[in-house]
Amino acid sequence: MAKDTFFVEKKEWSKTKDKLLGHYLKLYFNKILATRANVKYIDCFAGKGRFDDGEIGSPLMALEIAKEALKISKVHNSIDFCFIEKMYSNDLKDNTQQYKCTIYPGAYETSLHQILESCKYQNVFLYIDPFGIKSLHFDIFSSLKSYSCRSMEMLLNLNSFGFIREGCRVLNAKPLSEEISALEERENDSGSTKNDIPNMNRVANGSYWQKIITDYNSGAIDAFQAEDRFVEEYCNQLRNVFSYVINIPIKVKIQNMPKYRMVFATNHKHGLVEMASNMCKKSSELINGGQMTLFDYSKGDGVKEVIMNFISSADQSYDDILVSFYLEKGPLYSESDINAAIKELEAMNSIVVSRNPPITETGRRATWISYKKDMKVRRGYEKCH
Ligand SMILES: C[S@@+](CC[C@H](N)C(=O)[O-])C[C@H]1O[C@@H](n2cnc3c(N)ncnc32)[C@H](O)[C@@H]1O
Repeated sequence: MAKDTFFVEKKEWSKTKDKLLGHYLKLYFNKILATRANVKYIDCFAGKGRFDDGEIGSPLMALEIAKEALKISKVHNSIDFCFIEKMYSNDLKDNTQQYKCTIYPGAYETSLHQILESCKYQNVFLYIDPFGIKSLHFDIFSSLKSYSCRSMEMLLNLNSFGFIREGCRVLNAKPLSEEISALEERENDSGSTKNDIPNMNRVANGSYWQKIITDYNSGAIDAFQAEDRFVEEYCNQLRNVFSYVINIPIKVKIQNMPKYRMVFATNHKHGLVEMASNMCKKSSELINGGQMTLFDYSKGDGVKEVIMNFISSADQSYDDILVSFYLEKGPLYSESDINAAIKELEAMNSIVVSRNPPITETGRRATWISYKKDMKVRRGYEKCH
C-alpha cells in the first residue's frame, strides 16, 4: 500500500497490529505502575493519531489504555508519552490535543537519541511501526544498550517480505511473485533514504541476507524459506541487544502467508512469557473478520508431551522452562494451558515440583503453579533411580 493512502482507511492488518500491542500494553502498564516506577512510551513512527475513517491509530490507543491503567493505579507515578512523526506531526498534534503527550516532528533517527538520554532509570517501551524497512538502521537498535534505562522492551513491525523484495531488486535477482508482492505495504517514499546494498547491509546489520537472496535466485530455496531465514537471522542480530527476542508471523488467512512479522524484544524473562502467553490467549480475538490469523503453528503433540521436552532431570526454575519453551516454540500454548499441564504431570509423578514456601499460610501443602514465584521443576523418574 502506498504511504499516501495508508491513513485513508484503517485496514484489517493495522487493526491486528494494534490489538496485539494493546493487549500487551494493558498488562505492561499495570505491571510497571505497580512497581512505583515511571514509564516512557515512545512511538517512533506514530502516524496521524487517527485514520481518515475515524478509527484511532496506535498513539490514541496507547493513551486510552494508559488512562485506564492510571485510574486504577494506587501509586502516583506517570506514563510519559513521546510520539515521533516525520510527515503528519500537525495532524497528530490536532488528534492528541486532549491528552498530555510530547510530539517530536521529524525523523526518529534524530530525536530518539535525545529522548532516550532523558530516560535514566525509567522503564522504556518502544513501538516501531514504519511503512517499510529502509529507515530501520540497525545501528540505532545497537545503540539502545548504551542507555541506562531501568528496563527496555520493543515491539517492531518488520516488513520481512519487503526486505526480501528490495534484496532481490538491489542484487538483480528474480522478483517475488505478484501474489507475494501484493501482500506488502509498499514503500514509496522515494524522497527519503536511498535503498542500495550498503543501506540493506545497514538495516540487516550484516551481509548475511545476500546469501539468502542468492539461494532464492538459484532456486535452492523458495520465497517463504528466504523470508523465514531472513527473520531468524535478523532476530539473532537483535539478540545481541536484547536478551529475549520472539517473532510472530501475522498471516493473511486466505493465502496463509505471513504479511509481516511482529518482533518483540525484552531483557526480562517475565516480559517474554507475558507477551507470548497473551498472544496465544488472545489469538482468536486478534483475528479480524476471518482475514487475518495470528500464527499457524501446528500444535502436533499435546501440551504435556511438548512441555516435557523442556524439563530435565535437574531442578530448573519454572520461569526458565517457560522462556526456553516460548523461544523455541513461539506462542504455541498460553501460560495457563502450560500450568494446567504441569499440574497434571505432577499428579502423574512424571515431574517433581518444588515450591518455596512449600506450606501455605494455613499450614497446608502448597499446590500453586506460578512462574512469578520461587518454583522449581524436574523430571520425576529421577527420584526412583
Ligand atoms: C505505518 S505508519 C504508522 C501508523 C501508526 N502506528 C498507527 O497505527 O496509526 C508509519 C508512519 O511513520 C512516519 N515516518 C516515516 N518515516 C519516518 C521516520 N524516519 N521517522 C519518524 N516517522 C516516520 C510516516 O509518516 C507514517 O506516518
